[in-house]
Amino acid sequence: MSSVKPKSKNYFGIDVLKMSHPEIRHLKKKSDDHTHHGNKVWDSSLVLMDYMSAFPLKRKTRVLEVGCGWGITGMFCAKNFNAEVTGVDIDSYVFPFLQLHARLNDVEIETVQADFGKINGEMLIEFDLLVGGDICFWDDMTKPLFSLVKRAHNHGVRCLIADPGRSPFDKLAEKACKQLGAEVERWNVPHPHNVSCDVLDVPPLF
Ligand SMILES: C[S@@+](CC[C@H](N)C(=O)[O-])C[C@H]1O[C@@H](n2cnc3c(N)ncnc32)[C@H](O)[C@@H]1O
Repeated sequence: MSSVKPKSKNYFGIDVLKMSHPEIRHLKKKSDDHTHHGNKVWDSSLVLMDYMSAFPLKRKTRVLEVGCGWGITGMFCAKNFNAEVTGVDIDSYVFPFLQLHARLNDVEIETVQADFGKINGEMLIEFDLLVGGDICFWDDMTKPLFSLVKRAHNHGVRCLIADPGRSPFDKLAEKACKQLGAEVERWNVPHPHNVSCDVLDVPPLF
């Protein structure tokens, strides 16, 4: 019997390579200067995938994954709902990891390098849903993210943002509930994942 440990995990039908996988190690060696934490799959992504398993998207939903990192949540949308997915990240370091996983999971994901604060209405009208996991972790992120969520809401785009419950996210969620008719729900993902996050669900204005 082989004692070699598997070098990938499967999250909700999406294969994700472990840090010890040779291709991940190779990419890490090539560009080891990431600055904004897009260097693994974060728990919020698992929570978003479980949430969308419970409340499935319409087929062909146009999804914008903001602060996408490795883009696993968007890949889940592409695989399960035939969604058309674009991943946005400020840090181009993440895109080779994203494209490696897109190939592995046999999905196509477009990528755009941009600051989420700069995503304007012209771009937002191309989408139905904005998703983001673990993207509101510094105090100075609350303001631009609230503006983005409000712009999305006003342009007919629903937003789903998940976070373990850090205070910059709590402030974002409070404002979105008061001003945009959003709801927040604590979402527990049981064994084998055993993770828990708040999901902010902001409806579109129309
Ligand atoms: C904690 S990681 C989460 C990655 C991914 N969403 C996940 O759940 O695995 C945060 C991601 O947001 C990106 N990010 C941080 N600030 C950003 C900004 N202002 N605009 C766009 N992306 C940003 C980072 O580069 C990083 O990939």
